[in-house]
Amino acid sequence: MFPGPTFRSQQIMGRQGIYQPTAALELLAPAKLNLYLEVLGRRPDGFHELETLMVPVGVYDQLRWLPAANPEEGVSLSIRTAWQRHVASSAALSAGPENLVLRAAQLLAEKANLQPHGKFELYKRIPLQAGMGGGSSDAAAALLLANVAWGLHYGREELLPLAAQLGSDVPFFLSEGAAVCRGRGELVEPVRGLPKLHFVVVKPAAGLSTAEVFANVMQAGGRDGSASAGMSQLQKLIDLLRNGALGSAARHIRNRLELVAVRVAPWLEELQRAFSESGCLAHFLTGSGSAYVGLVRSVKHARGIAGQFAGRNLGSVFITSSC
Ligand code: C5P
Repeated sequence: MFPGPTFRSQQIMGRQGIYQPTAALELLAPAKLNLYLEVLGRRPDGFHELETLMVPVGVYDQLRWLPAANPEEGVSLSIRTAWQRHVASSAALSAGPENLVLRAAQLLAEKANLQPHGKFELYKRIPLQAGMGGGSSDAAAALLLANVAWGLHYGREELLPLAAQLGSDVPFFLSEGAAVCRGRGELVEPVRGLPKLHFVVVKPAAGLSTAEVFANVMQAGGRDGSASAGMSQLQKLIDLLRNGALGSAARHIRNRLELVAVRVAPWLEELQRAFSESGCLAHFLTGSGSAYVGLVRSVKHARGIAGQFAGRNLGSVFITSSC
């Protein structure tokens, strides 16, 4: 196993009294936050060239794989969420073949030339349409689980092209810790030495579609300048974070998509206002939203700000840290 998300349980004991072995495999799939996101231009393939700093944070979906009683049954997925016990399919969350977990399983099976099999059980805590990478993280976790469950033992380099095919953010979740991601997001360069960072996150009731936000980005003035100007901003941010100069680092946090998202969803302004009055070091949209984030000094600082937000009807409020 290469580094990355760790297996939480692997129950492969023999029969213990009345207990049956399950051979279940389980992974905790983390969310991500973007501390910096610059759009460098639109590419001929319709995607946008990005430069983004992403950190994994301790909000987790849980993905299990269990062997099916009969391998001929193929592969299936059931989903429960932290916010609603049983979910019917919706545009944002489907348990059908378009779900990234099943697409990941299908892609891996095609590569290995085998019939995909087993039961995936997904417990979702990462909010949907939030810009927190939940679906991408689940997809990466599915690749890792099926890789072990089916005895394939592919290395990270062999899984990466599949991850990139599944979505721009999926390769990030196969790497370990913070990373600068370029290209459409799939070119991942790990960033070592960042301190533990603490955040307050508010996820408003409404979500935002990544495709819709990106569709409006060039009208809103995607940056045309050279990559080097952006890089120096990004490099400054990374250096200041590494030095623990959070107050100075906060001034270099930015997300080009925030301006666009506010045009698509003017209700985000209420969150911008609430955060700007909250005393956090910096506040920003993560990815294409709609989750809005405050960088804070400590867990205590986070609790204080989350307390201010409670009962204000801004959305779900939670605190989290980089992991
Ligand atoms: O890669 P992924 O499926 O997550 O992207 C969702 C949508 O976001 C794409 O269909 C595209 O419209 C937009 N996108 C983009 N440029 C990127 C990443 C995503 O335009 N670098």
